Amino acid sequence: MNGLMSQNIPKIKQAYKHIKLPKLSPVPTMITDDEKQYLYWLGRDVVSGVGAVVEIGTWFGCSAGYLGAGLRDGSKSVPFYCFDRFELQGIEKRKAREQGFDHIEELEVEADIMPITAEHLESIYSIQLYKTYIDKNSWTGGKIELLHLDAPKRESDIIHVLKTFAPFLIPEKSIIVLQDFGMPRAYSLPLIFGELREYFELVDIPSENSTMAVFVYKHQMPNLILSDPENFSFKKNTRDCIEGWNKMATYYTNPSQKAFFNFGLALYFFRKGEKELAVKIAKENAPYLSVEKAELLDKRLCTRIWKLAFK
Ligand SMILES: C[S@@+](CC[C@H](N)C(=O)[O-])C[C@H]1O[C@@H](n2cnc3c(N)ncnc32)[C@H](O)[C@@H]1O
Repeated sequence: MNGLMSQNIPKIKQAYKHIKLPKLSPVPTMITDDEKQYLYWLGRDVVSGVGAVVEIGTWFGCSAGYLGAGLRDGSKSVPFYCFDRFELQGIEKRKAREQGFDHIEELEVEADIMPITAEHLESIYSIQLYKTYIDKNSWTGGKIELLHLDAPKRESDIIHVLKTFAPFLIPEKSIIVLQDFGMPRAYSLPLIFGELREYFELVDIPSENSTMAVFVYKHQMPNLILSDPENFSFKKNTRDCIEGWNKMATYYTNPSQKAFFNFGLALYFFRKGEKELAVKIAKENAPYLSVEKAELLDKRLCTRIWKLAFK
């Protein structure tokens, strides 16, 4: 494990919370204020410049803007690349409208938003944008020091991204930030990173208000490991699956946040048809949920499990 990361991340956890963010022009976003601060801090104080910064899932450029502002304010000249389909979806329009960006109505569904993102980012930092689907991502940019993932949530996309970018990560150095790691519907992230925990070490769950997780790349992962995901032990063996998941869950110190995270495992088993196990996990975790989280799971995220277990 990287000495710098293991020793400094807990310290900086305090530090990043006190960071005063630079003022950037507002754009619709899916990240929280804590996440903005954390990304800004990573760019400013942690990235050293031994490799590029790469983001997959940029949308209107909020997270990229704070990462870029961090690089700028830390006087780094690190190459920074962002990949996204940059194609506005109906649900994204709704989210932007909910955040008060009424002029989103002027854009059609599937509109190309890359020019808008480029305009937002151009005055912050020099960032190369790529308009591409995840399964078409390729990489020839050399070593990567920071990989921020905010688009791949399903298994095939995560595997493609790891196959494409992981060979360029630097052992004991590179940082991988996963958005939505703690979000039940994105359960493939903890399942896969739990499976690959020998290569990726979970080093930080920065905030109780965020579903983001931070990993350090420990040592070179043979690409062969990714060649047949059906061989992953979490798929073949329920005990291995639960063990890998629980290893990830130990990083959560907030009981409600941890219980919410564990609903991801319940959802995985539910969708696999293992409903009894799903209900068992739901029942074990429900008592620890905050009222808001319980309501979110009941009304929006795990409605069928909730009904089966509690109604
Ligand atoms: C959660 S949003 C990113 C939010 C952004 N990081 C921010 O700071 O607000 C997810 C992004 O992933 C992109 N995305 C989702 N699936 C994709 C795919 N299959 N290929 C390329 N981009 C995709 C969407 O276009 C969207 O911009």
